[in-house]
Order: sequence, then structure tokens, then C-alpha cells
Amino acid sequence: MTTQTQDTSLLESLEKERRKFPPPPEFKKKALVKSKAVYKEADSDYEAFWAKYAETELHWFKKWDKALEWNAPWAKWFVGGQINISYNCVDRHTTTWRRTKAAIVWEGEPGDSRTFTYQDLHREVQLFANALKDLGVQKGDRVTLYTGMVPELPIAMLACARIGAVHSVVFGGFTVEALRDRINDSQAKVVITQDGGWRRGSIVPLKQFADQAVQGCPTVEKVVVVRRAGEKAPVTMQAGRDFWWHELTAKASPVCPAEPLDSEHPLYILYTSGTTGKPKGILHTTGGYLLGAHMTAKWVFDIKDEDYYWCTADIGWVTGHSYIVYGPLSNGATSVMYEGAPDFPEKDRFWAIVEKYRVNTCYTSPTFIRTCMKWGKEYPNRRDLSSLRLLGTVGEPINPEAWIWYNETIGKGRCPIVDTWWQTETGSILITPLPGAVTTKPGSATIPFPGIAAEIVDEQGKPVPPNTGGYLVVSRPWPSMLRSIWGDPDRYVKQYWSRFPGRYFTGDGARRDKDGYFWITGRVDDVVKVAGHRLSNIEIESALVAHPAVAEAATVGRDDAVKGQAIAAFVVLKSGNNPSEPLKQQLKQWIGQKIGPIARPDDIFFSADLPKTRSAKIMRRLLRDIAEGRVLGDTTTLSDPKVMEDIRQSYIAEGKEEA
Ligand code: WT7
Repeated sequence: MTTQTQDTSLLESLEKERRKFPPPPEFKKKALVKSKAVYKEADSDYEAFWAKYAETELHWFKKWDKALEWNAPWAKWFVGGQINISYNCVDRHTTTWRRTKAAIVWEGEPGDSRTFTYQDLHREVQLFANALKDLGVQKGDRVTLYTGMVPELPIAMLACARIGAVHSVVFGGFTVEALRDRINDSQAKVVITQDGGWRRGSIVPLKQFADQAVQGCPTVEKVVVVRRAGEKAPVTMQAGRDFWWHELTAKASPVCPAEPLDSEHPLYILYTSGTTGKPKGILHTTGGYLLGAHMTAKWVFDIKDEDYYWCTADIGWVTGHSYIVYGPLSNGATSVMYEGAPDFPEKDRFWAIVEKYRVNTCYTSPTFIRTCMKWGKEYPNRRDLSSLRLLGTVGEPINPEAWIWYNETIGKGRCPIVDTWWQTETGSILITPLPGAVTTKPGSATIPFPGIAAEIVDEQGKPVPPNTGGYLVVSRPWPSMLRSIWGDPDRYVKQYWSRFPGRYFTGDGARRDKDGYFWITGRVDDVVKVAGHRLSNIEIESALVAHPAVAEAATVGRDDAVKGQAIAAFVVLKSGNNPSEPLKQQLKQWIGQKIGPIARPDDIFFSADLPKTRSAKIMRRLLRDIAEGRVLGDTTTLSDPKVMEDIRQSYIAEGKEEA
């Protein structure tokens, strides 16, 4: 594990911007958290802090006996408690005035829209929960959800949670093999999919992908299909296996009480890329996860009843789980959900949505902000953005230029920006400003959320002094932490808790300034963040070598001005195959099919050999130097230093050096 070379250039750019942004007084006046007292309270006894809010903010069927049982690295939160997330996100609001409040405001890509009040949601969730039961789904069974951004997706999640089934949402941008692997790893009994999903005006044939995937999935008994595209996406329904959502819910019973579940009952599995070729099924459980999602949504987004709150993420990622579905709904908020692409029909679509619904809070990614910068100010300037009062970012470091642009062009200098650091594994935001209490600095995620013990340590696990780079770790358990990797507890221990015993290792590098602010510099392992999406070098390499023409492959994440990082692949062909432009295109397409379009390399480069250490480990650091046009780093440990010179020469010859 090496700290990436990218760190230096990123840090230099971060340091150029030195302005500080205290909470605007008008914002602070009305903020839910106005002072830093909560940090002190949480620090003095973090267990008591979480227990207090678990009790006052959540509904429990039965109160817990003990807030935390910590046998490192195994955590149990709210031991003995009985709770249901679906009840907390839906039912409890239907007995208050919020019954008639909008829970989900959904905008379809073609411009159609639907609004679900909490009462509507209550009805739909119960109907589908009963439909699942009718299909034979029982508590503990896994259900894979493979759809686009349609309202049926959160409804299905809440329906699963209601009966104690474990959901596994697979991003609709993944294709057949990625879906099949994930279904098989979780041994799902039922798959929920959609006829076709809208993307930039065309239809993605989700049901067809699901059909192909399910052919290799022996555990799948039933497939439920949401009708969205209609005749635009004809589907074949297999009798006895496939059912239309609308037909099932039309005959399901309307009443399905939420099942009291153990606080540690598994809520969901969400697959994410790690440092090996096999995606990890991150396991989250019920009580602690809900508390983390609820408290962070409430305080970080300063949720008010009159807000239209919009997180632009896809529910296929953890951001959508925690900040479109569970966090906002548990708070009784109005959560806006958009089906399609940000540039359809035009590049002002997001701002058109802000204008249409008078959105107050917008939570998006640095890549999207940089894309908007590239598109130009005229798009946001066409729209009325005066309803916005708070902005957020997540997924990758935000460069200060993008932060300032977001602040000025979108927030008109009026809206605090919350740069939120967290991971699929952490379940909820861990490092972030509280917008009414914490002064922000462009490029810094600022300070840990109350109760979170984040630290930066060196190779030996010793905390480093201010302004020194190191590894980001978390030194105490937190309620929404992952509980394990599905089916692979050893990997859980190894991956997260072995490098720095007793501490959770994030895989990120970071530095703290003299004010204690965290500056995240990016992954220090073989994980790459492309446009905020998490990809594994080894996963892409394995997909490449599965191609008949490829003998060996190495991928690296290289700097990219818009996407943060892009994939550059170095490919050694099997003899008898010649480098060519069509083959490059074919390989890109191959990855698109094997994993999904988000994993397609930007650059493919053919080389005669790959740089390896004497123990045959590929030296990605050197390939990255080449892909980013740098002078080569230390090559002394290479088994054959000449390889590098050859690769570099031909890379330059192909005109890639300024990539
Ligand atoms: C990785 C986790 C958690 C939401 C979506 C991503 C990077 C995330 C930030 C941020 C700098 C960030 C880290 C982290 N990351 N947020 N605000 N600043 N880096 O979840 O796919 O599990 O990826 O995203 O590298 O480890 P994920």
C-alpha cells in the first residue's frame, strides 16, 4: 500500500484556496444545530450520546437492554431492542399531520411526475409487502432489486424492511454478469426488475438483462416486473416465474403490520468494489443503521418540515439508500427523486427540477459540479434557484475551484456547502460540517460528526502531527457501521480491522490541518473513484484478461479534470493478436458488457510487457506516472527496468503523454 502520487498535486491545489466560510447568520439563526456543544456532549460519552438519540428520535417496539456490545471488530448496537425501519420511515408519520405531507416527489425523465404522501406510501408499501409474502418471501430471505430510479424501488425496499427480508439493490447501470454475481452471492429468492428504464431518451432493457442473469441463478424462484416503458420495452414473461408488479399489488391485501425485528436484524446488503476482483456484499443491520442515517440526515441537511430536499444520487448506491430513502423518510421529510440523466432533454435539467419544485437542499457529486462548470453558467442561470438554502457534495474529493463555483453559481453565495465524507461501509456520513455550526473551508470535509472518532495514523498506526499525510481510520465503533461482509466474515476482519488492530481502516489517505480539519486525498489501495463511482482495478483487469485476445492487463486510475479519476488500461495481447483501434473499441465495449458502462476504460494502451517487481507484482504506481505524464518514479525494484522505458516511449508515440 503506497500513498498515491496524486496526493501532492491535489494538496497543492487545495492549499491555494484559503478563504473560510462561517455559517451565514440568517442560516444559523434557524439551524437545528447552532453551536458546537453537541460535539462535546458526544465526546464525553459517545455511547450515551447515541443512546439518547436512539430513544428520542426513533420508534422502538421494545427498548434495548444495552446500547453497545463491542467485541472488536464485532459490534451490536441497541442489544435486545425491537424495531422496524419501515415503521419508522412510514407508519409513524401517518398518525400525525404528516399523513398528508409529500414523502416522495418523483420526476420521470420524460417529464411526467408522481407524488406520494406518507399515507400513499403507507398503502403502497403494505400492498407490496403482502405481494412479497404471497410470493413466499419470508423474514431473512434475500431479495435483489434491479430497477431504474422509479418510485417502486424505495417502495420495495421499505416493503422488504417491513417483513424482515434483506434487500440487495443492484445499480441499474450494471449489466448481466455483474447482476448475476450479486444475485448468486446473496442467494436471492426473488428479483425485482423493470421492463425498461429511461436513460437520455432511450430505453435500457432491464428485464432482458435480468432474464439473462437469472439463467445462471439457481436460487431465484420469482421475478417481479415493474411496468414503466410499456410497449417501448417488450418483455417475455415466463409463466410461474414472472409477475407484473401492478397485478400482484392489485390482488394483495392492503394491511401488513410492520414486523418487530431485532435491532441487529440484517436490513440490506449492498455490493461495492474492494481491492480484489470480487465485489464485497456490505452488510447493514437495522437499529444502528437507522440511527446513523436519521441523525446525519437531520443535522447535516438541517431538515425542516417545509423543505423540498433532493439528493441526486442513484438509489443503487449507498448515498441513495441513506439520503433518498431511509434518512429523509425517517425524519418525515419530502424527498425528491429524479429518474433520468442530468442533460436530458437539456443540460439545465437539474436546475429545471430545482426551479419546478422549489428545491431547498441539493446534495450531489463533485463530478456533476465539474461537468456543469464545463457546460457553462448559462444553464443554471436560465433557472430560478432562489429556493436553495443548503448545498452538499459526496463521493470524491471536491477541488476548491469546483467548491467556489458551486457556492457562487448555484448557491449565489448564500448557501452553506456540506462536503460529506463517508463510504458504503460507514452507512452514514462520518466527516462533515454541521451547516449552522461549523465554518467551512473549500476542499475540506471539515470535522467528524458528533460521536465519531476519526484519526490519521502512519504505517505503524501512530497518530500523525498536523499537516502530515497518513491513513484515515476510525477508532471507535459507530451505530451505522457495517457489521460484516455477507458470507465472508474473515474478509471483514482482514479488510477493515487488521491493518491497524482495534481501528477501522477506511482505505483513504488524509491529512489534518492545525484547526483539526480533515482533507481527504483519495484512496490508498487499488480502488479507483471514477466520477464518484467506486471501481476496483483488479475487477477490471480480470474482465480484460477474460477477453480472448488479452494475455495480461493492468489498470490504474489517472487524474481526470472532470471525473476526478479515469481508468487507463495497459494491455498485453496474446500472440497472434495485433494492436489496433478497433480492438481498443472492442475491449472498451467488452468491459461495458461485463461490468457496466461506468467501468469502461478511457484509455487503452497496448504494451509488450508490464512492469513487475521481482516478486511478480504489477507496479501500478509506475503505470500511473506514465498515464499522468510524469517523470518516472523509483524503478529500482523492477525486475526489468527496460520494460518501463519501452512502455513510456510507445505511450508518448501514441500521443498519450498529455492525457
Ligand atoms: C469512497 C467511498 C459514501 C457515499 C458515496 C461513496 C470517497 C466519499 C468523499 C468526500 C473525499 C470522498 C472516499 C471513500 N469519498 N466522499 N466528501 N471527500 N472523498 O461511497 O462508493 O463506498 O466510496 O469515496 O475515497 O473511501 P463509496
